[in-house]
Amino acid sequence: MTGGTSILGKDLVGLEPLSAAQIRTVLDTAEHFKDVSERRIKKLPILRGKTIVNLFFEPSTRTRVSFEFAQKRLSADTVNVAAGTSSVVKGETLVDTARNLEAMSIDMVVIRHPASGAAQFLGERISSNVINAGDGRHEHPTQGLLDLLTLRDHFRRIEGLKVCIVGDVLHSRVARSNLWGLTKLGAEVAFCGPRTLMPPRMEELGVTYFPRVEEALEWADAVNVLRLQLERMQGGYIPSLREYNRFWGITRARLEAAPRPVLVLHPGPMNRGVEIDSDVADGPQQVILKQVANGVAVRMAVLYLLAGGQPERARIVKEVVEA
Ligand code: CP
Repeated sequence: MTGGTSILGKDLVGLEPLSAAQIRTVLDTAEHFKDVSERRIKKLPILRGKTIVNLFFEPSTRTRVSFEFAQKRLSADTVNVAAGTSSVVKGETLVDTARNLEAMSIDMVVIRHPASGAAQFLGERISSNVINAGDGRHEHPTQGLLDLLTLRDHFRRIEGLKVCIVGDVLHSRVARSNLWGLTKLGAEVAFCGPRTLMPPRMEELGVTYFPRVEEALEWADAVNVLRLQLERMQGGYIPSLREYNRFWGITRARLEAAPRPVLVLHPGPMNRGVEIDSDVADGPQQVILKQVANGVAVRMAVLYLLAGGQPERARIVKEVVEA
């Protein structure tokens, strides 16, 4: 692969700092990588010789495994560090941990951390590329990108789409990355859920607010249903999970009452029977596992571009390798 300056800059900390053109480039590059995961030999030698550390300070299934698959499918060497089994439990700071890893000659760090701003903080202090895999309530940029790719696959466009983010927006980094990505690409964004789980000053973000989920489903082309983040709530945000499902749950009856078919996304992990009913989560209007599949392609694209890969060469590089 020809190295050089990355079109994304040194780090990927969020979608807020990216331009519409940069976001489109990641999505277009991901298209070239989609079919790699379908093949018998799921490997391209594009990141051969690169070493990547996955540094996860919070639990994760989808993001950690998806990054690891993306890295392995591009032939990078990968090491997984979980906070619970690292020297963090002995009091080592984030920067000391990362600098010690850098002393072993690494190229990139993928970090998930409970503190908002952790990825940027780290990126400013180490020379390796840093990719944010979710930082507190701030952003989860690769989730935002895979959601955009899934919407674009289904509707063939993002511009003009009406997308409603339903649920616990207040605690959600996925909501923030979706908001930035969707609005930069020309979609209309709405939020729906209890007022207590909405961020302050929504109007300044250019977002429409629907207190009732039936109104949201009447308006939307697609809904992105958020998990109720029980671990980030101190109590008092909702009366009970049963009440939440009764008023804001995405149910088959509510989808059937909408004037047109509404596409259903969920970033996972799902609380079945709370924010989404099982017959919707497994039903014909959802694209939840397509989101997961697109996650690998999007992360391959981000790794390729941050390593200095040229977007216009992604298809050629792949074809030359295959020949
Ligand atoms: N969507 C998402 O971030 O899932 P995980 O927490 O399993 O990584």
